[in-house]
Amino acid sequence: MTRPFDALRSQERRLLTDDPQWFRTAVFYEAMVRSFADASDDGIGDLRGMIDKLDYLGWLGVDCLWLLPFYPSPLRDGGYDVSDYRAIAPQYGAMPEFTELVQAAHERGIRVIIDLVMNHTSDQHPWFQSSRANPSGPYGDFYVWSDDNTRYGDARIIFTDTETSNWTFDTVRRQYFWHRFFSHQPDLNFENPAVQETMLDVARFWLRHGVDGFRLDAAPYLFEDDGTDCENRPRTHAFMRRMRQLVDAEFPSALMLAEANQWPDDVAKYFGTEAEPECHMCFHFPVMPRIFFALREQRAAKLVEILEDTPNIPAGAQWATFLRNHDELTLEMVSTEERAAMYGWYAADARMRANVGIRRRLAPLLDNSRAEIELAHALLLSLPGSPCLYYGDEIGMGDNIWLPDRDSVRTPMQWTPDRNAGFSAAEPGKLYLPVIQSLVHHYTHANVEAQIAQPTSLLHWIRGMLAVRRQHPAFGVGEYVRSRRAASPSSPSCAERRRRPCSASRTWRPPRVRPPSPSTPSPGARWSTSSAGRRSRPSDRTAGSP
Ligand code: GLC
Repeated sequence: MTRPFDALRSQERRLLTDDPQWFRTAVFYEAMVRSFADASDDGIGDLRGMIDKLDYLGWLGVDCLWLLPFYPSPLRDGGYDVSDYRAIAPQYGAMPEFTELVQAAHERGIRVIIDLVMNHTSDQHPWFQSSRANPSGPYGDFYVWSDDNTRYGDARIIFTDTETSNWTFDTVRRQYFWHRFFSHQPDLNFENPAVQETMLDVARFWLRHGVDGFRLDAAPYLFEDDGTDCENRPRTHAFMRRMRQLVDAEFPSALMLAEANQWPDDVAKYFGTEAEPECHMCFHFPVMPRIFFALREQRAAKLVEILEDTPNIPAGAQWATFLRNHDELTLEMVSTEERAAMYGWYAADARMRANVGIRRRLAPLLDNSRAEIELAHALLLSLPGSPCLYYGDEIGMGDNIWLPDRDSVRTPMQWTPDRNAGFSAAEPGKLYLPVIQSLVHHYTHANVEAQIAQPTSLLHWIRGMLAVRRQHPAFGVGEYVRSRRAASPSSPSCAERRRRPCSASRTWRPPRVRPPSPSTPSPGARWSTSSAGRRSRPSDRTAGSP
């Protein structure tokens, strides 16, 4: 088979820095093992496939790979339904390949963080099976059981499309169990010290296997209290502090990145204080939908407002920013009116919606407008925080709203115009999900190989932007000060933001992209300076495909 990416192998390799605050200037890249590349030709991405693509990530210029759960799992929630925390699902490979992946990434100057799903397990986890069958056994108290389903009645339901209660009756134990997500995902009982110890040991296990940290899934929900919404409880923060003490003492440069879909004041508490730190980083959920809101409103006001409502964070801590991820574009952190507007702008078809959000990818959301995709990335890369890219968005990959749940945005990565988009040599019907074949986003034109060959492609533009960001650490560590020209209620349009984004203290100017570097893969390739400057209006909706 042709290997169009072999040329990327010979490039100069970056080294890992020994900066313990590496994450403040890092660019993150989120990918699923299942979706990235299939080396075993069984239709499912695997660790070997991912190892083979590390040179691509090095060439693109990302600093940290965030791997979604790869643990054994019935896969009823994309792997967030874990049935063994200390193993690799066999379809992805085994521990030797995992450690090889981490080592090979490190050799290319790329760190690796993994998802740690602490709040819940799959109902197929042996702990749950034991808990339901043997209430007085060692796992009897590992989950939150109750004789009735009325406790914690103030807790909201998160998966509104599928669940009607946070309690489900178990016919074996003849009690209800508590779950904040799917009814096949019982919440662990963090009141039980053995649960806390076990989870800290799981963290140690993976850090000893070389990972550089964790995205802490569903961080706000570890503890429950009657009469509250059961989110962000003081004991949850106490546990985070404990985990941070372990990390600082035993694995000093490892990262804790919290997934807490909350308002800025509540999220900021997951940083703890300088004296008593919790997480190094937290995703800034409220910023994300406001980027999309600002694009359609053509005013930066909402974005500026939320940044002003964002408290200062402890020295050395960092926000994580993102445009899209593996979940729906959540609209929980906007007002009812803003949500209605966003559904109108971005999810006209009911199939585009999921729970309280929109299950579409970046390029289709922005009607494949190159100008808007560039503007969104320019904001992402210049707002306070470290940006996290979602695999495939760098080539303007499409989605498939006809697939169930969030599978719409989890289809195979598109590498080439060949069979299965170069993702796998398997029989096409065998793929874990079909590749995107929509008219606009068909993999025959939206693929890495084609975009590497085209110097003006979105992929080259994003790579250029990452290179510019890397030259200016101020984007990561600089202070955010609102410029006097930044948005006010009578603010200028988003186009104005584009020339002078609101992260003003970083004295941003349109990037002058550098001449070809020796690692530019195609001999005829040249860098384009035109794509950033040539389209002046974000309302230019016919700019062509990425
Ligand atoms: C997190 C994950 C999401 C998953 C949920 C429940 O929010 O991002 O994909 O469904 O946890 O496990």
